[in-house]
Amino acid sequence: MCGIVGYIGKKCDLKKVLIDNLKTLEYRGYDSAGVAIYDGNINIVKAKGKIVNLENSLKDVDICDSNLGIAHTRWATHGEANDINSHPHRVGKVTLVHNGIIENYNDLKKDLIRQGYIFVSDTDTEVLVALLDSIKKKEKDNIKAINSLSKLLIGSYALGIIFDDDCEHLYAVRKDSPLIIGVCNDCNLIASDVTAIIDYTKKYMLIDDYEIAKLGKDIVEVFNSDLLLVNKEISEVTWDINQAKKNGFSHFMLKEINEEPIVLKETISEYIKDVNALIKKMPDFSKYNKIHIVACGSAMHAGLVGKSIIEEYAGIPVIVELASEYRYKKNFYDSKTLVIFISQSGETADTIAALRNVNNDNIDTLAIVNVVGSTIAREAKEVLYIRAGVEIAVATTKAYLLQVAMLILVGLNLAYTNKKLSENEVNFILNEFEEIPSKIQNIICRDSECFNLAKEIYEAKDVFFLGRGIDYSICMEGSLKLKEISYIHSEAYAAGELKHGTISLIEKGTNVIGVITDESLMLKTLSNIKETVARGAKVLLITTDKFNSHYDFNCHEFVVEKVNSVLQPLLIVVPLQLIAFEVARLRGCDIDKPRNLAKSVTVE
Ligand code: F6R
Repeated sequence: MCGIVGYIGKKCDLKKVLIDNLKTLEYRGYDSAGVAIYDGNINIVKAKGKIVNLENSLKDVDICDSNLGIAHTRWATHGEANDINSHPHRVGKVTLVHNGIIENYNDLKKDLIRQGYIFVSDTDTEVLVALLDSIKKKEKDNIKAINSLSKLLIGSYALGIIFDDDCEHLYAVRKDSPLIIGVCNDCNLIASDVTAIIDYTKKYMLIDDYEIAKLGKDIVEVFNSDLLLVNKEISEVTWDINQAKKNGFSHFMLKEINEEPIVLKETISEYIKDVNALIKKMPDFSKYNKIHIVACGSAMHAGLVGKSIIEEYAGIPVIVELASEYRYKKNFYDSKTLVIFISQSGETADTIAALRNVNNDNIDTLAIVNVVGSTIAREAKEVLYIRAGVEIAVATTKAYLLQVAMLILVGLNLAYTNKKLSENEVNFILNEFEEIPSKIQNIICRDSECFNLAKEIYEAKDVFFLGRGIDYSICMEGSLKLKEISYIHSEAYAAGELKHGTISLIEKGTNVIGVITDESLMLKTLSNIKETVARGAKVLLITTDKFNSHYDFNCHEFVVEKVNSVLQPLLIVVPLQLIAFEVARLRGCDIDKPRNLAKSVTVE
């Protein structure tokens, strides 16, 4: 959450450079934004709301071409979104931007107040700047001062720092919040992720926890916490800038749903040739008799789909837990347990913390991640990359789909390894897997049907998603997608559970979306849905069967082609994503940047 950028280099129109770079990070937070630009003086400009507000405010501010600047887009943690709480913060002779949370800021603040510091904002960040300023009164060396600061902070931080006494350099440090350095010919940059530097360079360095970077216009030095110079490897971004553009689509979310067939093909192609490829390209899973899946949000929902598949096909018990819970509870695992961490960004704070706990206990870990080189990808013992490319819309679509696809492949691998499925049976499914991208394409082409169904829902106050088994897990994702982008209250319920309380909310006109694909549970779910109809519910079914004609059940329906049940989740979620999108569009919502949200949740 929050995005930071910084520039040091040859003189240029830094207002434009910083705004352009910041815009690529807007998915990380968009409550307010600000810049600090040095042109002989430090000019700080901040604006509440989206980056475009800051861009407009900057038009009226006279700032000369500059060689040094930092900027920030905020997802508020401490203090409401307003100009005072926005970054950059400046105290004494130090100006900085911060992504993260300082947990001990209250204790530090008391001490600084005793020293005579006066605070104007509600933020933890202002305390951090004051602390650095107070350290600087005794320690002139900026690297040593930052190192001392790190030792006093509890929490997470990625900082971009300008010291008044050294405007030839930009300083940066991180702990548990992402930070990269873009390396160019005539400038160097810092950013929360590579999308902000790709217009300038494909070359970047990853900064590790507690490392301190000193960037000059043509040199980057990185020091470890013992103040020794570290030799950093330079990596190259493998994707193209166009991936981070809308390319003719009205919204990133729509573009990303449209990319699903192609990214699915890219992700699965190396595994689905035959069972031998599936076994060879994945780690050896043969020793595991228990699996835990740990993730947040949609990634956790993907984990629930994975649980149904692994338990059903491989006969291995799976526990799925929210990372924010798993990290603080007692977990029961041993040397035969594999703990799988799922994350699009690879930077989700709770998932990282849970991973570190499991690593400390010496239990095997596997990450399913999209962003190459991200913290989770680097710290897990094994990693399987999905190939979603850049996902910009805050609500995940293509990455969720690929997480499910990867879990299906893991499930098939385990099923074969555990002799629950024969070579022929796995090969048969892998063959059908190859057809799934084009079948998804067929669903995407039915967008106008989804639009018509969305028209039935978009004025709803509440929507209830009902399903059983694997369909219930998909309902959870459908419900999250709808509520997060359209702001319609929605809940996913196990169809059989509704009558234990929640059915009291069903009244004339309440919208119910049923997901029915599991043949063995089809009639059971239908009975539960009929119970809601008896109380006045309006029903839409997302299903693999024609309920209107085959079961004489009068409702709106979207019928998805039937495929092997292990692959069915990949098709059934697509209309749910499209309907959520169309509902939000009809309601005039800011689909790619829903209120209060941020894409990469780097605070706990
Ligand atoms: C919802 C959504 C979030 C993420 C969650 C985990 O559309 O995108 O629920 O799934 O914040 O993020 P990652 O996968 O980056 O760990």
